[in-house]
Amino acid sequence: MRLHYLTLLLLLLPLEMSTIYGISTEESVPKKSSKSLLPPEAFLSIGHYHTTCPDAEAIISQKVSSWVKKDPTLAPAIIRLHFHDCAVRGCDGSILLNHRGSERTAYDSKTLRGFQLIDDIKGEIEKRCPRTVSCADILTAAARDATLLAGGPFWEVPFGRKDGKVSIAREANLVPHGHENITSLIAFFQQRGLDMLDLVTLSGSHTIGRSTCSSFMDRVYNFSGTGKPDPSLNVYLLKLLKKRCKRVMDLVHLDVITPRTFDTTYYTNLMRKVGLLSTDQSLFSDARTAPFVEAFATQPFLFTSQFSVSMVKLGNVQVLTRPNEGEIRVNCNYVNTV
Ligand code: HEM
Ligand SMILES: *[C@@H]1O[C@H](CO)[C@@H](O)[C@H](O)[C@H]1NC(C)=O
Ligand SMILES: *[C@@H]1O[C@H](CO)[C@@H](O)[C@H](O)[C@H]1NC(C)=O
Repeated sequence: MRLHYLTLLLLLLPLEMSTIYGISTEESVPKKSSKSLLPPEAFLSIGHYHTTCPDAEAIISQKVSSWVKKDPTLAPAIIRLHFHDCAVRGCDGSILLNHRGSERTAYDSKTLRGFQLIDDIKGEIEKRCPRTVSCADILTAAARDATLLAGGPFWEVPFGRKDGKVSIAREANLVPHGHENITSLIAFFQQRGLDMLDLVTLSGSHTIGRSTCSSFMDRVYNFSGTGKPDPSLNVYLLKLLKKRCKRVMDLVHLDVITPRTFDTTYYTNLMRKVGLLSTDQSLFSDARTAPFVEAFATQPFLFTSQFSVSMVKLGNVQVLTRPNEGEIRVNCNYVNTV
């Protein structure tokens, strides 16, 4: 163990030197006008509510826990809701807005769930610290707590997101549906500051939860218009899906082997052609992402530690943190009236 730390120190030393070097040469490079160059997520912090609403996190975790105990399917639902929030206009609670023409009312949002849980949390927090905690922050922390309850890792959530005032139904269509090719998935993540490692890691959320048959039926009966099944679909899974999918709205577990456990079976499934969505399976078919799949399939600790890192990155996507941006909504369903 000692030796390990020593090696680490030796590895870090050159880094430290370059930092010092960087500072010492600052005068020779053009001066950065520091503040304006800070990215919006730099204004988030773990201690954001420590003085203004010290019980916020406890309220959130207690509520998530009691709802998930009654209905375990809410854990994956909340994690997905957080992704759909961050994927459109950043993590700004725009998915929660429930007015006519909002993202939430779109056809593409019809299988999103967990809104009542967020409303219940918000109601309790408003009683304790009115107009202080944003809906975007509540959803972010709830997704972390849901992960933990499903058997996944814990991580510290940086807080300080404001809630957005804009939500447009047609933008819900931007979120990948499960039919995209790997190149467009990579591009979608990249546009949000997430790389290929984040793509493979966050897709690991599909180790729990369910999908409607409509999201993958083309793989079973008519793949790419060939009139044949997807050749990258395991034949036993193919048989199972034909049996399970009588109607397009029937539900199938995304990880058919260990559907309720937050583990790396999602990745071993991909190596055996047992991925449910074609987008899941494509992570293993493509040479750019396959090495990450293999690494996670064989080293569970690597997955859980990277999942924490990638979820923090997801929660930082295009956040509203500047004084004139966004608001603290009083009701997560509506933009404030005054
Ligand atoms: C890589 C692109 C992604 C695609 C194409 C995708 C696609 C899908 C689809 C089609 C479903 C099933 C929807 C239905 O038919 O009911 C689903 C469910 C789910 N997704 Fe994703 N997803 C992606 C990324 C993510 C990310 C980044 C997360 C979280 C960080 C996530 C979390 C979930 C969860 C937990 C479920 C299960 C929801 C439930 O059981 O209620 N997905 N996803
Ligand atoms: C991937 O999908 C995009 C968008 O639909 C399309 O423009 C592109 O040609 C596709 N790429 C490949 C390699 O199939
Ligand atoms: C399969 O899909 C193609 C194109 O999407 C369509 O033209 C064809 O009629 C479909 N075949 C069957 C058997 O549904």
